[in-house]
Amino acid sequence: MGENLFEHLQRGEGLFRDRRALGHAFKPADLPHRDKEIETLVHNFADALKGFAPSNMILYGMPGSGKTAVTRHVSSQLQERGAKIGQPIHTIEINCRNIDTKYRVLAEIGNALRLEGDSQIPFTGWPADKVFECVRARMDARTGAHIIVLDEVDHLISRVGDDLLYSLTSLNTGLLDQSCCSIVGISNDLAFTEMLDPRVESRLAPIDVVFKPYNASQLEDVLFTRATTGISEGVLDSDVIPLCAALAAKEHGDARRALDLLRISVQKAEMHDEKMVTVSHVRMAQNQLEFDQITPAVANLPLQQKLILFSILINEKNGLKNISTGEVYGTYESACENAGEKPLTTRRVSSLISDLDMMGIISAKTISKGRQGRSKRINSCLPPAFDPFQVMQVSDTIMTDVVNGRYRLQRRL
Ligand SMILES: Nc1ncnc2c1ncn2[C@@H]1O[C@H](COP(=O)(O)OP(=O)(O)OP(=O)(O)O)[C@@H](O)[C@H]1O
Ligand SMILES: [Mg+2]
Repeated sequence: MGENLFEHLQRGEGLFRDRRALGHAFKPADLPHRDKEIETLVHNFADALKGFAPSNMILYGMPGSGKTAVTRHVSSQLQERGAKIGQPIHTIEINCRNIDTKYRVLAEIGNALRLEGDSQIPFTGWPADKVFECVRARMDARTGAHIIVLDEVDHLISRVGDDLLYSLTSLNTGLLDQSCCSIVGISNDLAFTEMLDPRVESRLAPIDVVFKPYNASQLEDVLFTRATTGISEGVLDSDVIPLCAALAAKEHGDARRALDLLRISVQKAEMHDEKMVTVSHVRMAQNQLEFDQITPAVANLPLQQKLILFSILINEKNGLKNISTGEVYGTYESACENAGEKPLTTRRVSSLISDLDMMGIISAKTISKGRQGRSKRINSCLPPAFDPFQVMQVSDTIMTDVVNGRYRLQRRL
């Protein structure tokens, strides 16, 4: 028998000290460059320790700007402090991407507040006002301050409206006797309040906190603090963290992306049995992340979108750049024939091309051609090593006939 499959991974020191410290579930105790945001939350929540309701808040910011991490950190410190001084504080965090109806959010809050002997609110079936009354009564039974964090709340509001927020914010206007309640809404859509009825907006958002995207040098500090716990000493080449930070700074300063890059870079070095992590591992990690993002985006396109994308790419493969909508349409008609599909109108195809542009799969710049009107210059944005034809065929068997079909393609001089 040869070496055990796991043996080489356990040999030597290992590049990770604690790989969980670079994972998504880790709760960092130190959050560099978020002092001001932390301070605002602390200042507001301090009222809960005196038995008053803190103001409701909305936290905004791009993905990966630390909204969830900051809120969890401050909430857990608040609970710890409350326990120490004997002031009951209950914080409940709900992710509204997963729990996405008014009923389910209220049921979740009610069940989190259950005391011994209280019944479980069922998944569905109770009348809405019964669930709400149950939440109210359980808040009072528990006394103290209740902080309800509605993370990614924009998802819920855009799906089902702001009724839930109206009900929850009404708890503090006379409905609670023995307790108080405060709502923290977290959103990465800055225009989120436009979805709200003005009455709900004015109740909900006396305090707005905007989390600015991190810049490259701030992301370096974020990575350094996490790397100290997560990665063995002396194994990172000095350029690794700056490169991860610079690449993530381009992705709207996303700390999650920066951490993913660093974690995957170390994994790549481990897989290659190397003792040092270098910029070449960061490049591999970046490629993998791009692949991981782009593969489902292309695979999940509807068939008509795939036919359009195919028509752009096959022209490009044939040496054509800055393709016009007309050139795409000519190929697209043949692709439809090979797929046995009826072609859409040029107008519809033009709008689907704009959708592909919005998704970042292609770029379609509109240019003016003087009196001949306007036209598009279309180019692929897919990474060179990515094989879109393969992904399209695996996800849609009809695409095999399309990819293997014959096309009369032009080549511009
Ligand atoms: N200042 C920081 N220091 C250390 N780690 C951080 C910092 N800011 C963010 N992180 C980490 O980056 C990742 C993303 O942060 P977080 O989940 O808080 O972002 P978010 O703003 O809630 O994003 P989304 O809008 O996508 O939910 C988490 O792993 C978090 O621990
Ligand atoms: Mg979040």
